[in-house]
Amino acid sequence: TEDRLCETEQPAGGLHFIGKKDELIEAKRSFRTVDGRDILIIHHQGVFYAMDCYCYHAGGTLENGDIEEINGKLCIICPKHKYKISLCEGEGLYRGRNPQEEPPVYRWYSKGVKQRTHTVTETNGEIFVKMSSQPGWIDSDYYQGEKGKIERAKAEAEKDETKKNEKEIKSFLYN
Ligand code: FES
Repeated sequence: TEDRLCETEQPAGGLHFIGKKDELIEAKRSFRTVDGRDILIIHHQGVFYAMDCYCYHAGGTLENGDIEEINGKLCIICPKHKYKISLCEGEGLYRGRNPQEEPPVYRWYSKGVKQRTHTVTETNGEIFVKMSSQPGWIDSDYYQGEKGKIERAKAEAEKDETKKNEKEIKSFLYN
């Protein structure tokens, strides 16, 4: 199959060299830090994608997330709590139902763009990324940079704390 690129916007200048195309195809998932931002480059079914590496929900790393087609869109599924994020647009997708509807029918809905995505281009077998310049806040911004590192550590610590509490409750109940 011919390699295509995820066309969300046309790049012009500001291109960062990511690596050789062959190597990135082989790796399938590649982590890079560009302009102080941690991103994930994905090669899937002949197409390159790039997005912020940490999930907008609680900063989980997306690197090992499965990819599935949901509602006609390829999505990465965050390994941490299984949130679904479309590869091209960074849209958060969720299944829900309209409470007015009887019987209830579950459908996929979009929360809008939650994960910042970046543009991938190829020139002579080399892959470049143009970082997103979309203005305004996108939820995945929260877990980037120095502050993001602290927030990610906090999210981890909270998880450990919940586990510890669950253990304590269990040992209280069963001992
Ligand atoms: S951190 Fe990704 S789903 Fe919660």
